[in-house]
Amino acid sequence: MSEITLRNITKSYGSHLALPSLDLDIPNGSFVTLLGPSGCGKTTTLRVIAGLEQATTGEVVLGGKTVYSSRSGVFVPPERRGLGFIFQSYALWPNMKVDRNIILALSEAKQPAHVIEERLAEALAKVQLTGLADRYPSELSGGQQQRVAVARLIAARNSILLMDEPLSNLDAKLRTEMRTELKRLHRELEATTVYVTHDQVEALTMSDIIVVMKDGIIQQQGSPYEIYHNPANLFVAEFIGDPRINLLDGTLATVGGERVVRFEDTAIPAPMGLQSLDGPVTFAIRPENIAIVERQGPSSLPAEVDIVQPTGSQTIISLSVKGRRVTALIPRFETSLPKKSIWIEFPLDQLTFFDKGSGTRLPLAQPVGASHAA
Ligand SMILES: Nc1ncnc2c1ncn2[C@@H]1O[C@H](COP(=O)(O)OP(=O)(O)OP(=O)(O)O)[C@@H](O)[C@H]1O
Ligand SMILES: [Mg+2]
Repeated sequence: MSEITLRNITKSYGSHLALPSLDLDIPNGSFVTLLGPSGCGKTTTLRVIAGLEQATTGEVVLGGKTVYSSRSGVFVPPERRGLGFIFQSYALWPNMKVDRNIILALSEAKQPAHVIEERLAEALAKVQLTGLADRYPSELSGGQQQRVAVARLIAARNSILLMDEPLSNLDAKLRTEMRTELKRLHRELEATTVYVTHDQVEALTMSDIIVVMKDGIIQQQGSPYEIYHNPANLFVAEFIGDPRINLLDGTLATVGGERVVRFEDTAIPAPMGLQSLDGPVTFAIRPENIAIVERQGPSSLPAEVDIVQPTGSQTIISLSVKGRRVTALIPRFETSLPKKSIWIEFPLDQLTFFDKGSGTRLPLAQPVGASHAA
């Protein structure tokens, strides 16, 4: 059953239509990430779920209960929706010390003192703030304040958690650690979580489902694997992955009965069953899928090594291929490549094709007899 359902949600701010029409089902217990560039409507969507913002039209159902309906005039206020949330501005009470900020909801719910104490200690330890319970928010760094907000969520144990960029103020190392902690937290609490970020690494590492948005419109939703390997369009393909996916222009053609993709002065065989007429296409290959080969082969292309950037466990190699810039990624530390002129191959099963006009991914026909479950 879906825990959170948005039906035909629209939201306009004056003449600006932030959400043209959003439908979303979030399954019970799942970790769902809204991902997209600045201004695409992530925070608006989260605030509509929370009830901090009233949608212009549509319906919001939480745990089977309608909390907003423009048609029947229902609007349940945020404090009665049973959610825990952290927003971009993490809104701690400035006049309360860290411990009071964390346990406020618990004491208001009249939980026994020993439960409150246990939860406080556990939450502080989880976010590595043990010992700072006695400080005021103004005596903490931005990152520490953010962790207090996370601790408050941990302590409250709501069945729905909404988080809007909760890690954005942390330094890189702590962000990586907190990512693991939040994922563990989700597993332990089994709370349905809606997480907003524009950081694709956070989305890929933490989510069960990623919802990619652009201009208030869902571009694709799916597992991190699907989003990364089968992007629905060029926008999703380019937004996910660092270094970025390589996009190249080619032309589909039929030569002597065989379908090929012409790329500059070479022709690579087109994948079987590519559903498109002959004509211009954009094809994409992830940097890690480019093969650097020792010798020229039937499908290899000559490439010039431009820049070599080791990142530790991997090395980013900027290449020039037939005058186009192409990025390759190899899974080891290299400070230079032995030769400047090399050969590369685009493995056929790693290429994704897009319609050049609409940017939509071109489907491959299923081979006869292939299972639909695959
Ligand atoms: N209170 C408001 N009044 C007018 N326009 C608003 C308001 N809040 C948001 N908007 C507009 O609605 C659109 C969506 O904003 P939203 O805050 O949901 O984006 P976002 O995806 O969370 O972006 P970011 O990653 O920058 O936080 C933007 O164009 C924004 O300018
Ligand atoms: Mg936002």
